[in-house]
Amino acid sequence: MPRVALRHRIRIGIAVCAALLLSACGQRSESAHESAQSAAALQASTPTPAASPTPSALAALGKKIFFDPSLSASGRLSCASCHSPEHAYAAANARAVQLGGPKLDRQGARAVPSLRYVLNRTPVWSKVFISNQAERILEGDEPPVGGFGWDGRFNTLHEQAAFPLLAANEMANANADDVVAKLQRAAYADDIRQLFGAQIFDDRQSVYSKALIALERFELEDTSFHPYSSKYDDYLDGKAQLSEAERRGLMLFDDPQRGNCASCHIDRKGADGSHPLFTDYQFEALGVPRNAELRANRDPRYFDQGLCGPLRSDQVAEKQYCGMFKTPSLRNVATRGAFFHNGRFHTLEDALRFYVQRDTDPQRWYPRGADGRADKFDDLPLSLRGNVDVIDQPLTLHEGETPAWSDAEIADVAAFLRTLTDRDVHP
Ligand code: HEC
Ligand code: HEC
Repeated sequence: MPRVALRHRIRIGIAVCAALLLSACGQRSESAHESAQSAAALQASTPTPAASPTPSALAALGKKIFFDPSLSASGRLSCASCHSPEHAYAAANARAVQLGGPKLDRQGARAVPSLRYVLNRTPVWSKVFISNQAERILEGDEPPVGGFGWDGRFNTLHEQAAFPLLAANEMANANADDVVAKLQRAAYADDIRQLFGAQIFDDRQSVYSKALIALERFELEDTSFHPYSSKYDDYLDGKAQLSEAERRGLMLFDDPQRGNCASCHIDRKGADGSHPLFTDYQFEALGVPRNAELRANRDPRYFDQGLCGPLRSDQVAEKQYCGMFKTPSLRNVATRGAFFHNGRFHTLEDALRFYVQRDTDPQRWYPRGADGRADKFDDLPLSLRGNVDVIDQPLTLHEGETPAWSDAEIADVAAFLRTLTDRDVHP
C-alpha cells in the first residue's frame, strides 16, 4: 500500500500547514493575487489616464459587474444568479447543475460551488513531480492541490471570471468585445470612465481585462465572502456550546478510524487562531455515481473526469488523475441543494450516507452491471476505476460489512455540519 504511507505524509504536511500556518499560507496566496497577478494584469493593459484606482474602488465596480444580468446573452443571468449571496454564494435552488445560454435552456457541466471563504486562501495549482523511479515505486504519486474550479484549471480569479462570461451554456457572450459592448451600455459605464479615464472604451481589450480584475477584487475584498458567523466559529471562540448531537457528530467527523473526514476537510484552528475552512484543497477521486439528471450523461461515452478532462485540457495524459476533483469547503454545506461535482445528491444526509455505505452496500448507489452486481464507480471508464480512493477511511470497507456510521450517527454528523452555516445564509 505505497500510497497510504505517502498520502499520510501529505495529509500530515497539510495538516501542519493548517495548524501552524494556515493564515500565513492564505496570506501568501492572497498577496500573490494582490501584487503579482492583479497588478500585472492591470499594467498589461494600456496606459490609464486617470490616477491608479484604489483597490476598493475596483472592488465596488466588481460588485456591480457581479450582480449585473445584462452582461449575459439572455439578459437574465448574472454571476449572482448562480452564486447567490443569500446562499453562501452558491446556487439558490436544488438543481444538480444550473441553466444558462441565450435562452436559459442549456445545462452547465457541474454543480455550483460556494464562493465563501475559499477564494482568498486557494493555493495555485501544483503537483509534485517524483522523478526518481525508485521513490515513485515506493511512494506512489501525491495528490495535486489548488487552483480554481472543481478541476483547479484556473490559477487566478480574473482568468476564472472570463469562463462563465464566455461559456455558451452560461452567460454566453460571443467574445470579449461582446462583454465590453454590454459594459458600455451598463448603468455604471460612467464609473468605469471615472476610474480609468474618459477614453477608456476606445481600448476594448483594456476595458475587458479591467472588468475581470474588478470582479477579482470584489471576490477577494468584500467581507460578505468570509463572515465567520457560524455557530462553529462561536464555539471555537468559546462563545457557544455544541449540543450533545453536534458534539458526537464532531467526534465522528474527526475519528481517524470511523469518519476520518477531517483529514481532508480540516476542522481545527491554526496556531495563530485562524478558523478552519474544511478543505485541504487537494484532489481526490471518490467514485461519486453517475448522475442521470445531466443531459451530457445520455452519451455513454461522455465522462467528466475532473483533472484529466474534458473541461481541463493540460493533464489529459495523467491517467492517474482521472476522476479526481478538488476537496470543497464544508462551510455552509447544509444549505446546499446539490452535492459533489455532478450534483448527484440533494440532501446532506444522502451525501453522508454515500460515504459510509459506498462500499458496504454498493447496490444502493450504483446500477447493476451485466453480471448482476453493482457497477461500482460507474461515472468513470472501466480502465480508470482503479483511481478511486479505497485507502482512506471510511472508504476501505467491503460489501456486506457494517458501515462506519449508523443512521443515528449520520444524523449526528449532519447536526455538526449544520453548525457551519453562517447566520445570514438561508437554511
Ligand atoms: C450558470 C451558472 C454560473 C454563472 C452564471 C457563474 N458561475 Fe461561477 N461557477 C459555476 C460552476 C458550475 C462552477 C464550477 C465550474 C467548474 O468546476 O468547472 C463555478 C465556479 C466558480 C469559481 C471557482 C470557485 C472555486 O472555489 O474553485 C469562481 C471564483 C466563480 N465561479 C466565479 C464566478 C463569477 C465571477 C461569475 C460571473 C462572471 C460566475 N462565476 C458566473 C456556475 C456559474
Ligand atoms: C480523501 C479526502 C476526503 C475525505 C477523507 C473526505 N472527503 Fe469529503 N470530499 C472530498 C472530495 C475530493 C470531495 C469532492 C468529490 C467530488 O465532487 O467528486 C468531497 C465532497 C464532500 C461533500 C460534498 C460537498 C459539496 O459542496 O458538494 C461532503 C458533504 C463531504 N465531502 C463530507 C465528507 C465527510 C462527512 C467525510 C467523512 C466521512 C468526508 N467528506 C471525507 C474529499 C474527502
